[in-house]
Amino acid sequence: MNASPALTQYQIPLQPDPSAAVAKFLKRPPRLFIGGEWVESKSRERISVVDPATGREIASVADANEADVDRAVAAARKAFESGPWADMLPADRQALLWKLSDLVEKNMDELAELESIDNGKTKFMATVVDVAGTRDYFRYMAGWATRIEGSTFATSIHGPPGVKFHTYTQREPVGVVAQIVPWNFPLAMAAWKLGPALATGCTCILKPAEQTPLTALRLAELIAEAGFPPGVVNVLTGLGETTGAALVAHPGVDKVAFTGSTPVGKLINKSATDTLKRVSLELGGKSPVIVLPDADIDSVIGGAANAIFFNAGQVCCAGTRLFAHKKVFDRVVEGISTAASSIQLGPGLDPKTQMGPLVSREQQERVLGYIESGRKEGATVVAGGETPSSPGFYVKPTVLANVRSDMKVVREEIFGPVLVAQRFEDLDDIAALANDTPYGLAASIWSNDLRAVQRLVPRIRAGTVWVNCHNFVDPNMPFGGFKQSGFGREHGRAVLDLYTELKSVCMAI
Ligand code: NAI
Ligand code: MG
Repeated sequence: MNASPALTQYQIPLQPDPSAAVAKFLKRPPRLFIGGEWVESKSRERISVVDPATGREIASVADANEADVDRAVAAARKAFESGPWADMLPADRQALLWKLSDLVEKNMDELAELESIDNGKTKFMATVVDVAGTRDYFRYMAGWATRIEGSTFATSIHGPPGVKFHTYTQREPVGVVAQIVPWNFPLAMAAWKLGPALATGCTCILKPAEQTPLTALRLAELIAEAGFPPGVVNVLTGLGETTGAALVAHPGVDKVAFTGSTPVGKLINKSATDTLKRVSLELGGKSPVIVLPDADIDSVIGGAANAIFFNAGQVCCAGTRLFAHKKVFDRVVEGISTAASSIQLGPGLDPKTQMGPLVSREQQERVLGYIESGRKEGATVVAGGETPSSPGFYVKPTVLANVRSDMKVVREEIFGPVLVAQRFEDLDDIAALANDTPYGLAASIWSNDLRAVQRLVPRIRAGTVWVNCHNFVDPNMPFGGFKQSGFGREHGRAVLDLYTELKSVCMAI
């Protein structure tokens, strides 16, 4: 089954067979997790789950309809308002989250394998990034459950003679939360959503992306095993246009948390306006990688290649636009292109694979369409630029040079392993070039010139600015976008604001 040593980088080996545990999981009937039970959908529609390395169906899941959404919202509402969850001590919520993180760790191998055959990423990356990150995220958020606080403050209220006031704030859970997540880090994105909601005492309806529903379903089993009361977390598989839209419009949902594309984020924000739901949006990006003339070229090459090729470029904060100073541009582009050409493509379960296929045929075609449009508009393909011969959804790691700021490949989010490289001459121009995008999720600056870096950081309109690194996230470091990359900050203390309402209490004494 494995690649023979004679295979070149673009000859794609076969996907190894899944483990017995995963094979068994794939055979389960399509079910939804509502009110602590596995129930059949009221809809007869099924969504095919495809292994991106083979293009073949490996399972099918339900496409939950409005009746299913009603049931899930009712279960979440009931769990929020009455029963053990509503009265639970923060320390007990903390213990449950910690237990869940332990179960994620215990089932790491199976979760990583499921993620790999569902999304296309390598099992190795799924293990060290997605599943380990999920474990750590639940563990981190467990700590916040017992640290939620308000404040007391002075007031100057002119009340009746002799009356004093005692005033304070307290944070209360926002309520029933619909959480709609994408397919690029399916389990980790579910954790980013569920972790703070559970720490603060909300109840949830999680909708994984239709392309990658498997780990969310496995996670629901672990949530039940951990002992979360019924209805605290409900998982609905389904399409965005059906299940997702019904959740966003539902009057029984208090908040929507969404990660995905900017166009869908706008739709969600509009739809949620009718019921004035709380909304947090983590949307697309077109993040610049800015290389100043003094930068250490070797670390730039490795770092910039990783910034764009990690997870096959399907990363919201991927470093997609390279701006290198003219003094170093040729060396940087050559180095990244050499790195691109040495990446071994293959199926996620093959241990030799360095980059898997993209998530779907649709995404592969979208990315190849962008490369074609770049070519037509005059960009030079320095590396990659096509798909290897395989039924899987592969795209070769690609570098496009000679691009202009008005090209589609420079303006739009590609969400694939495609770097667009531009040179710049004047340090004074670089902030304007980097900010010339509707997005503002992240950026990186590569330089050891402290003064230049410190002056540039405040001029970059982005939620995260990395210096001499890219794509690093931490549960304690706020993450989110400026401009059309969304609003709200996940992680850290900041995320508690997204999942709580602030109540002022004013007591005459
Ligand atoms: P998408 O934004 O359509 O999907 C993300 C999630 O939103 C999925 O769970 C989907 O079912 C749901 N959804 C879709 N339409 C919805 C609606 N009307 N109401 C409620 N939920 C809805 O992204 P898609 O179509 O999978 O990918 C398209 C492009 O979006 C990608 O090429 C990429 O540029 C961008 N994207 C960005 C992501 C990020 O992390 N910022 C993640 C995934 C995609
Ligand atoms: Mg879509």
